[in-house]
Amino acid sequence: MNQQQRQEIYETAKNWIYEAGSFIREHMDEPLDIETKSNPNDLVTVLDKQTEKFFVDRIHQYYPEHHIIGEEGYGDALTEVDGTIWIIDPIDGTMNFVHQKRTFAISIGILHNGVGEIGFIYDVMGDILYHVKRGEGAFKNNSKLAPLDKEKKLEEAIVGMNHFWLCENKLVDYPVMQKFVRKVRGTRSHGSASLELAYVAEGIQDAYLALSLSPWDVAAGIILTEEVGGIAGDIDGNPWNPLERSSSLVANPAIHQSIVDFIKEGRK
Ligand code: IPD
Ligand code: CA
Ligand code: CA
Ligand code: CA
Repeated sequence: MNQQQRQEIYETAKNWIYEAGSFIREHMDEPLDIETKSNPNDLVTVLDKQTEKFFVDRIHQYYPEHHIIGEEGYGDALTEVDGTIWIIDPIDGTMNFVHQKRTFAISIGILHNGVGEIGFIYDVMGDILYHVKRGEGAFKNNSKLAPLDKEKKLEEAIVGMNHFWLCENKLVDYPVMQKFVRKVRGTRSHGSASLELAYVAEGIQDAYLALSLSPWDVAAGIILTEEVGGIAGDIDGNPWNPLERSSSLVANPAIHQSIVDFIKEGRK
């Protein structure tokens, strides 16, 4: 993908995101037809589905040769990363959307031959768009995000993670994670993985840890954080695979290895 193609797709996608955001704001107080998916707390609403459908229809119309991975199933089942792929989470933070009516985002990452080229995370209620074109800077609305602070220490880090790390889980012995939360300065749990990653890119949070996430939760956020020098992958420090669900660790480069080492102590 050359710079001109990247620019054209970026402008188009950005307009669609603002359009989808307005649609969500206009319709969010109507009945949401809430359903559950894998468990009673895994929610999906009519607006999750309509928003994904909106993007998929537009992509089919404007870029019929592009591929799509989307949470709500309107995309393609891909086994390889060749060509241009849009990775879409129409509403990231559906529980926040349903219960809190804020702190949810439209998240779209666009890859070409496996390389993250464009990313958008749109905080719909805050009207804040985090956006990136690879090699051309990461932005929060019109402000360019600074490279991440290379002097950051783990003791001074704010880490995004949820309570599941402190319960019995399949990946890590939780007493090690209890030690971890005492080691860092503070933890936060915002309930939207894409926004957590945007906060890492913005430098207001220094890492984000998740036990299990899908490509659409993290695609845009990884492209965004890598642009400002962040390191993204799984909790063992392996690189991100855009076709697989996995654990997730996205961090300021100064503390990434310390977190991998810390977790290793309790890794099952
Ligand atoms: C969820 C959110 C949440 C994370 C979950 C995700 P969804 O995405 O990102 O913060 O903890 O694992 O599934 O379902 O609201 O798009
Ligand atoms: Ca979901
Ligand atoms: Ca999500
Ligand atoms: Ca979602």
